Formats: sequence, structure tokens, C-alpha cells
Amino acid sequence: MPYPAGVSPSSLRIALLGCGVVGSQVARLLRDNADELEQRCGARLELIGALVQDPTKPRDGIPASLLTADADEVLQSGAPDIVVELIGGIEPARSLLLRAIAAGASVVTANKALLAHDGATVHDAAAQQGVDVAFEASVAGAIPLLRPLKESLAGDRVDRVLGIVNGTTNYILTRMDEAGVSYADALREAQDLGYAEADPTADVEGHDAAAKAAILASLAFHTRVRLEDVAVRGISHLTAADIAAARAMSHVIKLLAVAERSDDGGIGVRVAPAMVPLTHPLASVREAYNAVFVEARAAGQLMFYGRGAGGAPTASAVLGDIVSLARNRVLGGRDPGESAYAQLPISDPGSARSRHYLSIAVQDRTGVLAKVASTLADHGVSIETLRQDGRGADAVLTIVTHSSSAAEIKATVAKLRALDEVRDVASVMQVVGD
Ligand code: HSE
Repeated sequence: MPYPAGVSPSSLRIALLGCGVVGSQVARLLRDNADELEQRCGARLELIGALVQDPTKPRDGIPASLLTADADEVLQSGAPDIVVELIGGIEPARSLLLRAIAAGASVVTANKALLAHDGATVHDAAAQQGVDVAFEASVAGAIPLLRPLKESLAGDRVDRVLGIVNGTTNYILTRMDEAGVSYADALREAQDLGYAEADPTADVEGHDAAAKAAILASLAFHTRVRLEDVAVRGISHLTAADIAAARAMSHVIKLLAVAERSDDGGIGVRVAPAMVPLTHPLASVREAYNAVFVEARAAGQLMFYGRGAGGAPTASAVLGDIVSLARNRVLGGRDPGESAYAQLPISDPGSARSRHYLSIAVQDRTGVLAKVASTLADHGVSIETLRQDGRGADAVLTIVTHSSSAAEIKATVAKLRALDEVRDVASVMQVVGD
């Protein structure tokens, strides 16, 4: 429970739920930086317990006496002021967080899946109980991003957020681009380096980025955005030819999380590979790094860059939240709660407008170009650039369109595929402006 006005605690009790790669780093930072943290919070931060599946398994730097598999011991008997959830997934994380909140603790979580799936339940419970929920580590690891969106940009109006928020896929795309390796080889490298899981689906199919996109969109547009509101396409279908085509156009392919205001007054939220011009700041984000590019009316363009995963980087974001919530306990304040007053509608993904890249394998014969061009024109799609590579059976047309809606492009591609002269529409991707 928050302390009564005028009563400042001399120490605050911190409990960890989960103690893996990030949790053990949080425990280390709490211990190594204890004196400085006390100065910054105005109270000593005391780790009182860590809920783990197997308390007999030793954890680096945590006394065995603090490890327990008994949730009651940590959440009830321990009477923590701040509970830090690092278990991940929906259950049991949600139930444990709700128990912690009901017992009066403020909570810190890095759980993007839970927040994107059912953040409302956690926020509502915290608001009712008068405690804080902080989740800086849930998106883009170490990068200070959610507090800037919530606090520093609270007086501005965000129009668009473009993020590289998945390090695994950014590593794979970087290797395909810079070393010319295939998708399969780049994925294997990412797995060998520990970036990609044995089952890489959540990363490569864009689901991890989609959860982060939902959280970013919720904060940027003061609207509850859930995972199912996000249109998702991953990178597993990309080929060396796509990467080469991007290079030839002085672009690079990135898996982007995009959240933007739409012409219809709603917001569009999607994750998909996109062509990014080399002149755009996001193009220089290499390997497993993350970056989020924000366009706000008054602030203009901002970019937040850093490590999006890993034990110590993620623990840095968790500690920042712990310090903020600890200060609130000491001084009697509260973090800004959930801001979802705008409740903007989620736009149809088909209405998203951008330039598009189309790679079309065609028969190399007289009149083909005219037919392709007139098919685009029939759907109101205007051509910005067009080039042909290869001849005869290898002829490929590469087209970049002017701004068109995703629905117009989808209908155009269906019509192109039905033409006798078109062997295949091999690739379709959005193209980011400079
Ligand atoms: N798997 C994620 C990534 C890290 O590759 O960025 C955790 O969100």
C-alpha cells in the first residue's frame, strides 16, 4: 500500500517474479548499485524474494534463501512494495500481477505479450487500487522510449511511429544485405548467436514486433490497441532478389512496426518488411540493434536507438522503472496512469497509404509493359519509377508507385497475376519516404 502522507519509508521491499537472464541482472544491479539507488530513491531497496520454478537451481548472485516456488511467500508474507514480473507470457504472469496489485504493490513488468493481449485488465486493476504499473522494458529493451512517449511528449501530438523493434530479424536482414547470405543461413547464424530461438516463429513472422507495436501505438495515440488490431507480415518469405532490388534502389529492407494516423481519423498499426531509403536514419540500424523513429507535430523527427534485448540492457530499463516507482512510494506521488482517452478507431489495413515496390516477372515481348502499366492505371495506381532487368524468360519489371492504398495495390496485384504476360508478382513491399 502507498505510505500515508508524511510517512517516508526507510526501506522498500522488492520482489521478483521470475529470475532468468533479466531477473538475475536486476538482482545484481540492485546489489551492486545499492548505495546510489538509495540516494536516488530516498529509501534502501531491499530484495526480499524471487519466485522461481526450481528454487534448488542456483542463480548468479542471489542467496538461495531468497529463492522460492511459493507465490504466497513472495506476494503475501513478503509484503512487497514493488513487484517485478519477468516471467513473460499471459499466465501465470497475469494472475500473479493482479494478486500483487490487489495486495497494494506497485508493479514493474517487461511482459509485452500480456500488455498487448490484455493490458486493460492490469491497468484497470492498478487504477482501482491506486498503484503504479511501469513497463519500459516491454518494448525495445534498454531504450528509454515509453517514458518519453508518456511524459516528454505529453504536450505534443504524435503522427507516426516507425520502429525496428525486433533484434533477431534485424540481424537476419543485416546479414542478408551486407554478407549476401540466404535467409536460411542468416537465421542459422542468429540462432548460433543466441538471438533467435530454436523455434523462430515469433520473431521471423513478426508476432513479437506486433505486440510491441500495439504497446507503442497505445501510448503514442492515447488509445487501447491490442495485438489483434495489428496487421502482421514477417520476413521469412524474403529472398536474395528482394535484398538486391532494394540495394539497386539505394534502399535497405527492414521489418518495421508502423503506427500512424490515417486519413479517416483512425490509426493504422502494422508490422511488415518495408524498403527504407539509405538516407533515412532507420537504414543505419544494423545487426540486433533496435530503433524507434517518432514524428511529432511540434518536436519534429526523433529517433531512439539502442539494445533491444539481453540481460543487462533490459535490466537497466527495469531498474529505471523500479527507481521511479520507489520515489513515488517515498514522496507519495504516482506515475501517469494509462492514457486511453482518445479511443481512436483502428483503421482498415487496406486504407494504409504509402509508396509501394512491386517486382513482376513478365514475358519479354512487345506490349507487355503497356498492359502492366494500364492495369496499374485501371486501379488508380500511379507509377513513380520503372525498370526492367533481364531478358526473355528472366525479364523482371521493378516498379515503385506513388502513394497508393494497400487495398488498391492488393487489387492491382490480383489483376496482374491473372495476366498471361505476367509469370509472377514475386514481391510487394511498402516504401518509406525520405
Ligand atoms: N526476441 C526479441 C528480439 C527480443 O529479437 O528483439 C525480446 O523481445
